[in-house]
Amino acid sequence: MTTAQLAPVQIPSCQMPPVPVFPQRTAEETARLKERIRDLLRQENAVLVAHYYTEAALQELAEESGGCVADSLEMARFGMSHPASTLVVAGVRFMGETSKILNNEKRVLMPDPAATCSMDEHCPAELFVPFCDAHSDHTVVVYANTSAAVKARADWMVTSGIALAVVQHLAAQGKKILWAPDQHLGGYVQRESGADMLLWPGSCVVHTSFDAEALKRMKAEHPEAAVLVHPESSKEVVALADVVGSTTAMIRAAEKMPNPEFIVATEPGIFSKMRQLAPEKRFLSAPSVEQDGFCAWMKMNTLEKVVTVLESGANEIRVAPEVAARARIPIQRMLDFAARAR
Ligand code: 13P
Ligand code: SF4
Repeated sequence: MTTAQLAPVQIPSCQMPPVPVFPQRTAEETARLKERIRDLLRQENAVLVAHYYTEAALQELAEESGGCVADSLEMARFGMSHPASTLVVAGVRFMGETSKILNNEKRVLMPDPAATCSMDEHCPAELFVPFCDAHSDHTVVVYANTSAAVKARADWMVTSGIALAVVQHLAAQGKKILWAPDQHLGGYVQRESGADMLLWPGSCVVHTSFDAEALKRMKAEHPEAAVLVHPESSKEVVALADVVGSTTAMIRAAEKMPNPEFIVATEPGIFSKMRQLAPEKRFLSAPSVEQDGFCAWMKMNTLEKVVTVLESGANEIRVAPEVAARARIPIQRMLDFAARAR
């Protein structure tokens, strides 16, 4: 008999700030900024690693300058394989921390230190560590969207692309799982795997704002559209999906599926990559009750701030060596698992 149960803990609330006003630039200004960043990257022996949710110009520059645009797993892997001594991580704080944990000898800079994630905020180590201690018969699996201190208490770290495979692997060994911080991704993985899971009650304020009733109506208005949903969304929204998957899985589906239109329940920054790979298709945001599905924290990353951090060396990510050493264990476990699964 398998179960999913919400952990009986009171988590801190987390309000997303307003989406920052996007810098208004002419094409010439954008080109000048990109040129300046290319020079600084060369000068500082640095490489730009950007998440799919960041602004389009940042994603383009990361690719044009030999960096990468990717999901959180690939961002971490790319940093390890690249010879640059400085990584500029355009994403949210946990991504910079993960890069630092895996690349201790490198300098990791982030455009904006205030770029956090609601899941990370929902799962402070001070609450999480004693909860794990009180459930020591469970294997602790944490999502990448957590602080270094939380990862340091985990047995496994997973990203959305590999979460289900890891949980299936653990469930096959009869393990009970304490999952954190996202109850929705955890619930999806539980339903798919049948594993015995205790779910931390955290969530993504962006993905939980997609509205199932409005999505049903939108589907009816766009009968040819395929619906792509990130599993951080609610169960009701996931139930309406043609494809449920990580950012990378959604991009792959957008490229491969024959539909002329896609309704996408994730951060709209992902459209840059989708349009690049499938320029003839139409991509529509799933209806959201908050800030049109934008993640304000991801949108804190701008070209202007990349210039500032490269010029000043500001916003360097530091993780205490003993925390990094412990946090590397669950991350490496996932990377080894992913390598075996390839
Ligand atoms: P990925 O792991 O797919 O990059 O997603 C990270 C994230 O923050 C999704 O909201
Ligand atoms: Fe975190 Fe959600 Fe923003 Fe992703 S979209 S970084 S999970 S708040």
